[in-house]
Amino acid sequence: MIHVRVLTEAKRDMVQHLGRGLIVLSFLLLIIMAGTIQKAMGAGSVEAGGKLYQTRCTPCHGPDGKAATPTAQALNPKPRDHTDGAYMNQLSQEHLAKVLKNGGPAVGKSPIMPPNPDLNDQQIDDIIAFVRTLAVPPYSGK
Ligand code: HEC
Repeated sequence: MIHVRVLTEAKRDMVQHLGRGLIVLSFLLLIIMAGTIQKAMGAGSVEAGGKLYQTRCTPCHGPDGKAATPTAQALNPKPRDHTDGAYMNQLSQEHLAKVLKNGGPAVGKSPIMPPNPDLNDQQIDDIIAFVRTLAVPPYSGK
């Protein structure tokens, strides 16, 4: 009689342990999955990128990214309209990183598009994340 009770208690203990283990494991999986999804979407921060964009890009691409300011219109070639989703959405993450870091000539474009060699990879990713929010139709991610 006593034997049986000890055994069932041991079993209950084991089940509880297993249950707790499973919960911990699911949490770990969730964290890993969230990280992967964030990476796949480009880990840049839209907010930080927006600030960098205002200081570095708006002089030519305009505050709204449309390159509609008189300065923008005076340039030849004209700065790219970042709200033009039909064009912008087909540019890959790598292409954008290259042109932002190394300037127009790095991707066969005009040298008027300047390089930003002082920005680190995170800052480049941040600006790309912001630029992606400007596109119409919206960027669906690749
Ligand atoms: C001095 C003016 C100037 C500044 C500042 C500038 N751009 Fe440009 N950008 C241009 C011009 C001009 C082009 C068009 C080049 C061409 O079509 O040959 C261009 C093109 C681009 C393109 C399109 C590249 C392609 O492959 O078609 C992207 C993306 C871009 N700029 C992003 C940025 C971002 C982001 C910033 C801020 C970090 C920035 N630009 C700052 C002038 C500028």
